[in-house]
Amino acid sequence: MCGIFGYIGNRDAVPIVLEGLKSLEYRGYDSAGVAVVKNGEVGLRRCSGKLSNLKGLLASQPLEGNYGLGHTRWATHGRPTEENAHPHRDCKSRIVVVHNGIIENYLTLKRGLTSEGHQFTTETDTEVIAHLIEKYFDGNLESAVIEALKELRGLFAFSAISADDPQKIVTGRDGPPSVVGRVEGEGFVASDVPALLPHTRDVLFLDDGEIAVIEPGRIRLMDFSGKERELHFNRITWDPVQAEKGGFKHFMLKEIYEQPTAVSETLVGRLSLDSNEVRLDDVGFSVEEWRSFKNVCLIGCGTSWHSGLAGKYMIESLARIPVQVDYGSEFRYRNPVPQPDTLCVVITQSGETADALAAQRKARDMGMKILTITNVVGSMTTRLADGVLHTRAGPEIGVASTKAFATQLTALYMLALQLGRVHGSMTLEQLGAALSELTTLPHKLEKVLELDARIETVAKSLFRSNDFLFLGRGVHFPIALEGALKLKEISYIHAEGYPAGEMKHGPNALIDGNLPVVFVVTQDKDLPESQQRYEKVLNNIREVKSRDGIILSVGIEGDEEVAEASDHYLPVPASSDLLLPILEVVPLQLLAYRIAILRGCDVDQPRNLAKSVTVE
Ligand code: AGP
Repeated sequence: MCGIFGYIGNRDAVPIVLEGLKSLEYRGYDSAGVAVVKNGEVGLRRCSGKLSNLKGLLASQPLEGNYGLGHTRWATHGRPTEENAHPHRDCKSRIVVVHNGIIENYLTLKRGLTSEGHQFTTETDTEVIAHLIEKYFDGNLESAVIEALKELRGLFAFSAISADDPQKIVTGRDGPPSVVGRVEGEGFVASDVPALLPHTRDVLFLDDGEIAVIEPGRIRLMDFSGKERELHFNRITWDPVQAEKGGFKHFMLKEIYEQPTAVSETLVGRLSLDSNEVRLDDVGFSVEEWRSFKNVCLIGCGTSWHSGLAGKYMIESLARIPVQVDYGSEFRYRNPVPQPDTLCVVITQSGETADALAAQRKARDMGMKILTITNVVGSMTTRLADGVLHTRAGPEIGVASTKAFATQLTALYMLALQLGRVHGSMTLEQLGAALSELTTLPHKLEKVLELDARIETVAKSLFRSNDFLFLGRGVHFPIALEGALKLKEISYIHAEGYPAGEMKHGPNALIDGNLPVVFVVTQDKDLPESQQRYEKVLNNIREVKSRDGIILSVGIEGDEEVAEASDHYLPVPASSDLLLPILEVVPLQLLAYRIAILRGCDVDQPRNLAKSVTVE
């Protein structure tokens, strides 16, 4: 879960590489380094800690060169020290490597290379790559890389340069992402698209088993055996500004405020109010294929698993099709019973999460049809899927996912409508009502954002608490889970999400005058079962109140009963039961953000986490 950036061209590489690493720092930030080649010599600077430390070091010990590699690290093998920071070198410091992923057989390789006389200076798995390339180097870097690849096992995206085969970057991928960018006379490699946007929108996503050789003005693609492959560049529509903070203090806050636009973008061109239809033509399934699905299996990790859980309520309610929801990390090692006619939906913002991809490959090998709901065009999940439903949230930089979650719920709701229509479990009238309610969401989200100042006040009375409980019922239970996850991720407070009906079976014991209990207690007055659930949650509120718990409730506007029963009441606009989650999660995102700020936490780069979990 590291960030890699490389540049080759006619400009000084160091400032360009540092700028690239800055926009990749959300991928890992416990140490960093850069290396360039000039006049046949390798220059290298590394340090532990954030990128700002490296900048300081380069200011006192400058480096120069027209091509180079940089790395910002999230340690997996070897402590986050200067020695273990990337780039890593061979014995003669002529070959330099940066790497993202894990070399599973590095100890075996290290022992072999050591017995052949190679000297190792770090605790990392990555260093074996530099020595392997050295072992096979005969003047041509890509041939040496191809030989080295034959011995590497694990997940990796790495880039290498050599002082003895100058003016060339060789990058290879088998697992974590690697993206190449091109501009007249220059070439770039990066772990993610946003880092390339200041330079180009012409990007090539390496496939697993591919190598790219980047020279000034020429890019070649080949497979791991060296066989040339056709270049397949994508044009990225995101503009660089989208990947900047836009005047907000943190990416997370900016992305929370971008949710109205993100949801409306995700709806664009997919709703036909005239014919009461959802248009998921970009998925590419025929009506017969949609109609053939008798089961749905939703797979995701973290926040994406929470949207999957909400998706289950949506699909079972609207399409009347059985749905199972699995964590990617569990599904990949579970022995699931294949059901005929199952649609497997993989939900992943980054499209590169290792556990989600492994589960996707397993589901595909089990013969399931794969639909992926992802936010990154061209990401690995799209290449392992039969159909792709892109959420259009734009680049999500904050480690805590917010706008991507709202667009995942929107996409899952449209999927439920699509299955409901082709399976005839929804009338045209019901479809029409659902579609028009969908179109009101962006405006309603704007209204919810107006609660921010109020939430800041609530946060001031709660930020010292060290435990929180989040409760909800039905499709609102996954939102309670998501609220708890946001608070955990960025404020480091222990928080649990729980079905409100389960309180009596244990968690009630936690309640006392110091425990804030957050209730998601919205209701859809037009839906009897929503009414029934609401009544039950209201009872739960009173039970907690009778034990002095501190009540914070997210309810719908004008709900006096909830307002009276709660210490803090955050009203969201009314909507249908299955769409309320998209509105009610926003106050929970803002609450987590405001509490984290008051606790002085690094909101965009929370400890021990990273945006895209590309290793197991
Ligand atoms: C959410 O805030 C976290 N960053 C994390 O749980 C995330 O949802 C999970 O790693 C899945 O990521 P993905 O959607 O990119 O696959």
